[in-house]
Amino acid sequence: MPLVNTKEMFAKAYEGGYAIGAFNVNNMEIIQGITEAAKELNAPVILQVSAGARKYANHTYLTKLVEAAIIETDLPIALHLDHGDSFELCKACIDGGFSSVMIDGSHYSYEENVALTKKVVDYAHKYNVTVEGELGRLAGIEDAVNVSAEDSCYTNPAEVQDFVERTGVDSLAIAIGTSHGAYKFKPGQKPQLRFDILQEVSERLPGFPIVLHGASSVIPEFVEIINQYGGKMPDAIGIPEEMLRKAATMAVCKINIDSDLRLAMTAAIRKYMAENPSHFDPRQYLAPARAAIKGMVAHKIVDVLGCNGKA
Ligand code: G3H
Ligand code: 13P
Ligand code: ZN
Repeated sequence: MPLVNTKEMFAKAYEGGYAIGAFNVNNMEIIQGITEAAKELNAPVILQVSAGARKYANHTYLTKLVEAAIIETDLPIALHLDHGDSFELCKACIDGGFSSVMIDGSHYSYEENVALTKKVVDYAHKYNVTVEGELGRLAGIEDAVNVSAEDSCYTNPAEVQDFVERTGVDSLAIAIGTSHGAYKFKPGQKPQLRFDILQEVSERLPGFPIVLHGASSVIPEFVEIINQYGGKMPDAIGIPEEMLRKAATMAVCKINIDSDLRLAMTAAIRKYMAENPSHFDPRQYLAPARAAIKGMVAHKIVDVLGCNGKA
């Protein structure tokens, strides 16, 4: 099976009341852990690459690793650019074989966001590449962009129809209270998502796929292991999984997860190194890291996304 774009995946997900996991990838073990879980559960999956990941691992290495995952799994896999911040970056990924891109114009004015997103859509659609846009601004850190809680803003539902019509995007990321990174809420703060905004957006865009960024749950077990084995992570709070499950049954068709992968991997490596202080073969500590990613992704597929058996 060749790489797929997100069109059919999202149409089926919307119809079926589930979501596809979009997992950030940076190296071989991460790609293997995610796709091995997806294979065992017969789940479609989106592997996404940020500008930072592309800089770290190199475009060719990542696309070839994803190609290998397709050969090994024969699953519908989309290779997606996460948070593309310029037309040039999106074009490089489209020309370089990605099947989907995000153009994140959420830091610009509304009109600038429309113009930039439309330019990317016009180019991408010539090559059957799907495009995700963003309206509203999430708090947290992505690459060099650090958005403070004060500068974040919820999506205005009154704008979504105009944005989608004028840009031609295939999916839309919205801000309803999720944020990037491991510290999504202040200690003692009760996690909350604006389901009323999601509901209104879906009423204004019937059948249209919505994307949730910043959707890691910051699984407490991993933070505990990290701190048990020498880590010093302060209180980290993520999005409760039952809220993500609810979003997946609504218009949300793509749920982005990166921090939970990082935590799973780091917890496994810290534990292994602490328990085996004389070991120095990277395969010895990367194997449990890969297994931890596989287990975590399997849990997300079954208990949060509901996309098991949907490949
Ligand atoms: O939304 C951002 C993702 O977690 C990617 O993070 O830009 O550090 O690769 P990164
Ligand atoms: P998390 O930091 O919550 O994993 O969000 C990842 C993300 O949105 C990638 O675009
Ligand atoms: Zn994101």
